[in-house]
Amino acid sequence: MKPKILTTLELPKNALDALEKYFIVEGGPELVKDRNKLLKLLEDKVGLLTAPHIKVDRELFDHAPNLMVVSTYSVGFDHIDVNEATRRGIYIGYTPGVLSDCVAEVTWALILSTYKRISEAERIVRARKWVKGIYKEPLGRDLKGKTLGIIGLGRIGRRVAEIGRCFGMRIVYYDIVKPPEAEKLDFEYCDLETLLKISDVVSIHVPLLKETYHLIDESKLKLMKKDAIIVNTSRGAVIDEKALIRALKEGWIMGAGLDVFEQEPLPLDSELLDMENVVLSPHRGSASIETREAMLNLAVNNLISVLKGQKPPALLNPDVMKVRPLDKTRVLQE
Ligand code: DGY
Repeated sequence: MKPKILTTLELPKNALDALEKYFIVEGGPELVKDRNKLLKLLEDKVGLLTAPHIKVDRELFDHAPNLMVVSTYSVGFDHIDVNEATRRGIYIGYTPGVLSDCVAEVTWALILSTYKRISEAERIVRARKWVKGIYKEPLGRDLKGKTLGIIGLGRIGRRVAEIGRCFGMRIVYYDIVKPPEAEKLDFEYCDLETLLKISDVVSIHVPLLKETYHLIDESKLKLMKKDAIIVNTSRGAVIDEKALIRALKEGWIMGAGLDVFEQEPLPLDSELLDMENVVLSPHRGSASIETREAMLNLAVNNLISVLKGQKPPALLNPDVMKVRPLDKTRVLQE
């Protein structure tokens, strides 16, 4: 009898075929809205293929006595209690690298739309209010010669910085840990306060951790230039959203481009929905055909590898190998 795994994703045929070669695959996207059923189905599963749409916490682990691997279809892992998983010998696979270019491109789409005020202008055209003459309002700003401040110079932050160079921008960055190769980089390291004071465009690329929760709060937003914009494609709670709304309403900054929010989907009464100087996108930084395919392949490989007793291509918690060595996770033959 094949071992059983559970998924909360809607899997395309090729991914399902790859998994069904080894496993009985149960579940589907309906489990996202039915936590009780999800927990019940986990009892006899050795693997879980999921995404940030569910919480992978102690409660879930308590219902999954046979679980050896959770593979998330995301680079973000704030939905997972990683320490608890490690303590219980549960491997966590994730999808770094394969989505960096896509998220960087979406970040630039938001920077351009916000700084050039494309969405605002489009709304004028759609409202049939384009009048004959030389177009005046809303006037955007030019990027060339301006300063781009990157918060978090990981894979995505670096790619955003490289693209910024093509626009002729000065690039500064802040990271909790100054990279060892900082002196060799073409970008200037500075502290967070300085970055916020001198940047025209601020872009956030840090994971959501205890240390980065509300990293950008009222006091930080007040440091920014009045004609600067902030763009966030990481996780909503890195910015204090209430403070951001005040900043946008009271003109502490010029605008914001947001792909992520403290609560998703964005609540229907959010003030952000009625603000002209905000570009909104429904958490789709990695949403391209090529990238989603690469993420799914990696997530499937992570899951299969662990259950073959092999180190997965992208393991988030390598310390788990000390708790449950790989030869103890092998439920599949080659
Ligand atoms: C990720 O991969 O973390 C994206 O934000 C999708 O959740």
